[in-house]
Amino acid sequence: MKKVIMQGASKAATPYKQHSVQGITGMQAMREKNKGCSVLFADIFCGDGMNVIDGQEINGSPISMLEGLVGALLSMKGAPSSKYRCLFADISEGRATDFLPQRVRTWADSKGLELSDDCTKLLIPLKGKDGNILKEKAEVLLTFAQASAVETVNWISSVLRRRDKRRRACIFVDPNGPKHAPWEELRNLWDQHKRKVEITAHISATQLKRIKGAREVGKAMPQVPDHVSAMIGAFKGAGGWIRSPAGADQWTVAMLTMFQPRSDWKKAGFVAIDSEEGADTIRRLSLTAKEYNKCTK
Ligand SMILES: C[S@@+](CC[C@H](N)C(=O)[O-])C[C@H]1O[C@@H](n2cnc3c(N)ncnc32)[C@H](O)[C@@H]1O
Repeated sequence: MKKVIMQGASKAATPYKQHSVQGITGMQAMREKNKGCSVLFADIFCGDGMNVIDGQEINGSPISMLEGLVGALLSMKGAPSSKYRCLFADISEGRATDFLPQRVRTWADSKGLELSDDCTKLLIPLKGKDGNILKEKAEVLLTFAQASAVETVNWISSVLRRRDKRRRACIFVDPNGPKHAPWEELRNLWDQHKRKVEITAHISATQLKRIKGAREVGKAMPQVPDHVSAMIGAFKGAGGWIRSPAGADQWTVAMLTMFQPRSDWKKAGFVAIDSEEGADTIRRLSLTAKEYNKCTK
């Protein structure tokens, strides 16, 4: 029988995650606006576009990503010189390739946005510098794939390896558990293309610490970073944002980049990784409560 992989949702962490994805995508789209680049937003554990919390449907990360990107395009004054596209991939049959396109259609209709019949092209109205609507619209190409995260990261790597220097990729990594994330492939991608790539990871700090604890008492455990600090440290030279945790499992979001955003996003709980507050957040996420209290006394 085929194994069904659950799409986890938690009351404390999931709405906060969706807000984080929307805001980070919006910020990234704005930053790339005038760079004449081809920017790929890739959600490599995309799910089916919806989460249910206490019986209520909320957006899944692909829709949050689109909300952030489309929100940025609608707020721009003047057409962007960069082109944007999205890739949504998930290993489970039909999740990215069947259910998700239907949700994208419902979402686009609810926003009054034009979406091609095959769901692969979204057209967004643009304003000129004077605030008037332009004839030209921004075209956002959408790709839906049934693929493992390893396959998707390797594919992104091959795209970035091509000669065109103006390719960029902003990747969202949201595995059910840390052992599903393609750590080695992401690190290789970073080592080869760090100036073209930004990686945003939604990770439970508690799960990382639990795996480390089990390894320390001799249990065979998957190869994952020991804690959030080790996870960030594996991406050499990365700065970016770290978010305050949510829930007992300390779900956090780390946005890793070589190009530190000019400001932090404290309203949403994000601080700069290389700030004192960032160091304290990373310490809190990386130590047990007992260790943290001892070292901050
Ligand atoms: C936490 S859910 C994603 C939720 C989604 N990002 C959201 O916020 O709405 C994790 C997803 O990863 C998928 N998945 C599990 N293992 C995978 C793998 N190795 N490669 C790609 N997708 C995987 C599952 O099918 C599931 O839909």
